Amino acid sequence: MIDPTLRVLIPSEKIQARIRELGDQISRDYPDGNLHMICILKGACFFLTDLARAMKRDVFVDFMGISTYGKGKTSSGEVKVTKDLDISLEGADVLIVEDIVDSGVTLNYLMHLMEQRRPKSIRIAALLDKPERRLRPVHASYVGFQIPDQFVVGYGLDYAEKYRNLDDICILENTA
Ligand code: IMP
Ligand code: MG
Repeated sequence: MIDPTLRVLIPSEKIQARIRELGDQISRDYPDGNLHMICILKGACFFLTDLARAMKRDVFVDFMGISTYGKGKTSSGEVKVTKDLDISLEGADVLIVEDIVDSGVTLNYLMHLMEQRRPKSIRIAALLDKPERRLRPVHASYVGFQIPDQFVVGYGLDYAEKYRNLDDICILENTA
């Protein structure tokens, strides 16, 4: 795709290779038990589908919709569940699958919400992490790539709902 405002940061091949490594690692860390992979919509849907297929074991897949009341490059800090899970988490090992940890507001909120559902354990897998931006403490056990404080799109990540279907993760330049 030719778009002068986009610059490739992580090409598709690197994303896929890293996801295969994460799939191996997570499969080793959870040799048995019920593992629920919770996709945080919409940004994490591409990551979830590739990561689930990189796993060497059975997993449950479920989806949670979240709105952070932000249309631009920053979220407002107010988190709302727009679609809840279908399957109970009680006694399960839960892996929250998220596209990116930015301020940490969303995942900090989600960790507390999921803890109330009495799972056996909860960890976070995030494809991207921007540690410089953190406002709330969040620990992601599995991180694909740490990136600098730049706004990125592609592979599920959007700007005003655009660019999610790019294969590569790109830096979006020249926008307000
Ligand atoms: P947080 O609550 O600030 O950590 O933000 C989490 C959400 O903000 C992510 O799930 C993304 O949807 C969105 N977000 C944060 N940084 C970016 C970015 O660089 N590109 C696209 N979306 C982003
Ligand atoms: Mg998101």
